[in-house]
Amino acid sequence: MISINFEKCKHCTVCINRFKGYCISNENGNPKIDYMICNQCQKCIAICPHQAILMNGKQPIKIEKPLRIVADDLKEFLKRRRSIKKFKDCKIPREVLLEIASVAKYAPNQNKNIEIIIIDDLELINKIDRSALKFVLRLYNIFFSMKFLTSFIQLFSDSLPTIKKKMEFDLHINKHVVKENTQGLYLLIGNPKVPVTESSAQYLLSTMIIYAEALGIGSCLMDSLKLSINRALAIKNALRIPKGNKVLGVLAVGYSNECIVNIPQGYEINTSWNRKNTETIVE
Ligand SMILES: Cc1cc2nc3c(=O)[nH]c(=O)nc-3n(C[C@H](O)[C@H](O)[C@H](O)COP(=O)(O)O)c2cc1C
Repeated sequence: MISINFEKCKHCTVCINRFKGYCISNENGNPKIDYMICNQCQKCIAICPHQAILMNGKQPIKIEKPLRIVADDLKEFLKRRRSIKKFKDCKIPREVLLEIASVAKYAPNQNKNIEIIIIDDLELINKIDRSALKFVLRLYNIFFSMKFLTSFIQLFSDSLPTIKKKMEFDLHINKHVVKENTQGLYLLIGNPKVPVTESSAQYLLSTMIIYAEALGIGSCLMDSLKLSINRALAIKNALRIPKGNKVLGVLAVGYSNECIVNIPQGYEINTSWNRKNTETIVE
């Protein structure tokens, strides 16, 4: 809930000028928030020169001096990040796990109701792993025992053999879905029926991944776990995931046990300028 602290407000009208005709109006020189329109984006808080606008009664932190980040270093850091799929048998202190979760609130987020569950209980991680493996087995049996189904799917997607191989690897060789020595799982929980919840969760995760890397913690997104947890009622109940809510994303973390020495250059993301077909633009 956004509120204005009129003891601090200097009636400078910065917020009114920015949002007039929309969510902040001028009421005899005082800013007035229209709560019907306010979507709690917190931009008014970010621009108020007097720190007079609060979210949930909390004072914003004043930016004292510009931050100098060397773009080349940041780019190099992003280039070197890799998903880590093998961790060291080494516990991550809870303060560090919490620290990673704490940056999620600074990510672009249109849904303020997303929750984070941190799982660092290795026994619980094991249970999730076993339930995920059962799920993979069930899915495998359903899919690949029905020839007509696989042939039908193959008409639309050529990734079926890869999926089959991956499932067989998890089932028979790896015998795990959770990555070796995973020390923590972050589960992002929310109601997927609320617009933009699912995509907001992905931005929270991206921010956490980058910050974890900066703290020397490796991570891997785990959509396979997301799917299986959402289907395993026992796990959902054990984690007390409220009815109607779902796991929107899972991030596994640990100290990396992989030696990354190269930056792969395989993928190109097709990028083009103003690609428009003038004939299809509706005037
Ligand atoms: C949305 C998403 C879901 C993913 N889910 C899994 C997963 O379930 N299991 C897994 O081993 N890796 C998973 N990954 C990690 C990818 O395998 C990895 O990002 C990809 O191989 C690229 O590697 P990089 O992150 O090192 O560039 C996922 C990645 C993304 C973006």
